Amino acid sequence: MVLMQGDETHDLLNAQAHVWNHLFNFINSMSLKCAVQLGIPDIVHSHGCPMTLPQLVAALSIAPARAAHVGRLMRLLVHSGFFAVQEINHDQGGDKEGYVLTPSSRLLLRDTATCISPFLMMMLDPVLVKPWHFLNTWFLGDDPTPFHVVHRTGVWDRMAQDPDLNNFFNEAMACDARLAMSIIIKECSPVFQGLRSLVDVGGGTGTAAGTIAESFPHVKCTVFDLPHVVASVPKSQNIDIVGGNMFESIPSADAVFLKWILHDWSDEECVKILRRCKEAIPSKEEGGKVIILDMVVNMNNGDYKLTETQLFFDLMMMVLASGKERNEHEWRKIFIEAGFTHYTITPILGVRSIIEVYP
Ligand SMILES: C[S@@+](CC[C@H](N)C(=O)[O-])C[C@H]1O[C@@H](n2cnc3c(N)ncnc32)[C@H](O)[C@@H]1O
Repeated sequence: MVLMQGDETHDLLNAQAHVWNHLFNFINSMSLKCAVQLGIPDIVHSHGCPMTLPQLVAALSIAPARAAHVGRLMRLLVHSGFFAVQEINHDQGGDKEGYVLTPSSRLLLRDTATCISPFLMMMLDPVLVKPWHFLNTWFLGDDPTPFHVVHRTGVWDRMAQDPDLNNFFNEAMACDARLAMSIIIKECSPVFQGLRSLVDVGGGTGTAAGTIAESFPHVKCTVFDLPHVVASVPKSQNIDIVGGNMFESIPSADAVFLKWILHDWSDEECVKILRRCKEAIPSKEEGGKVIILDMVVNMNNGDYKLTETQLFFDLMMMVLASGKERNEHEWRKIFIEAGFTHYTITPILGVRSIIEVYP
């Protein structure tokens, strides 16, 4: 029997589903984290052909009593596009199905150049997730960030105090740098042409600087970051390693590279950093520029998921640091205030862009 619903009931139930969907959004994150922790992407990959549920259960070192629940976890991850189901034994008239990877779960395979699991694990670590429970407390109080509400210190000081967390965070950044730099070098190499030297400010443990030095051996590359971060960078022949504070001074070079730096900071702090950058580079005629890798928020790009991802990052910058994701107008304002004259934006990196800024 088909029951007809009135418009009002239909709208009410849609609204309820919308609320439920949002309040349970964390289940997507946590299920994905669990799959990575159990090593499911690697197990499915190593199997080499569609993997049935019993085969997956056998490959996972889990208690037999948990086996039936693996299928439930996988059903959600198939629904959300992290695995797909393929028929097997079709030729023999069989009706079995097996799990295969999708492009998204390929990014979660360990020990590959494009693995972003360390970033996922860091962002979903309780140290970074707990401040979200105190967002309202922060709105009502006067702590600098929700991160301060919970940890009584800022994110960079917390990293400095906790070597394990510092290594965990640096590896999360390094995996992003490996993926992003491989695309930049492939799609956007003119950005680095003509440079004799480059300093990667806030360059973490040197992944981006190392990739640039390898791809453009004539560019003298320096990685510059806080002393406790660069302390763990192994000495290398092709990059210089300098510890310091970018608010005080930045080593001189033709170009300053700022990957995922300015979004961590307020407009006032960005202007200070950009002024130090301007002091570190020559004039435009002599080849000076700042190369920024960050988001340019565009609410009207027609891509719902891309915009939502940018807005998620924006709130994350609010919760963890004093930063934000900026639209073009907001970028222009801080460039001009820091004394730069013009810029170009190349939207080459999905949700992020390369912005070249000239003195
Ligand atoms: C979001 S991470 C980006 C790391 C790297 N650029 C990347 O994208 O892979 C921000 C970096 O800024 C560094 N940082 C924070 N405060 C700094 C300061 N005052 N001077 C220099 N580096 C700083 C942090 O240690 C961290 O490595």
